[in-house]
Amino acid sequence: MRRRVDVMHGVNLDQLGKRDPEIYGTFTLSELQTQVGIFAREMDFDATFWQTNHEGEFCEFLHRARDRADAVVLNPGAWTHYSYAIRDALEVCALPAIEVHISEVDSREEEWRRVSVIADLCVGRVQGKGIEGYRDALQILRGDLGE
Ligand code: DQA
Repeated sequence: MRRRVDVMHGVNLDQLGKRDPEIYGTFTLSELQTQVGIFAREMDFDATFWQTNHEGEFCEFLHRARDRADAVVLNPGAWTHYSYAIRDALEVCALPAIEVHISEVDSREEEWRRVSVIADLCVGRVQGKGIEGYRDALQILRGDLGE
């Protein structure tokens, strides 16, 4: 049976293609999702994609994932760095989760980007690899779920 993975994007990630192309590239969220869907199928995952600019809605995605998915890939955008609400929701979700960032947050100028309030709840963290990072994330999840 194919494993189900929910791939969640948070605040401002719907602006990919328009925001800071030097940092985030020129691809749109929809192009990213198409490519990640291809990676997922290659690895026998059924991927479903979610995005919101509303923190409470992101928490609700995580609540629902608990019953509808086997694992979660999440890029919460700036919420990564300070949202204890999303951290708590990830605990409620209780699925293997992996944190992904398109940019290399640990080497960016702003110190606040080096903080992640969800990292210790995740089975891994991928950053700075653009869309390819999502392939790495799925691979890590596959290992965690036991092939
Ligand atoms: C991001 C990095 C965050 O610091 C930033 O706030 C984002 C995108 C990334 O994918 O590189 O919105 O999560």
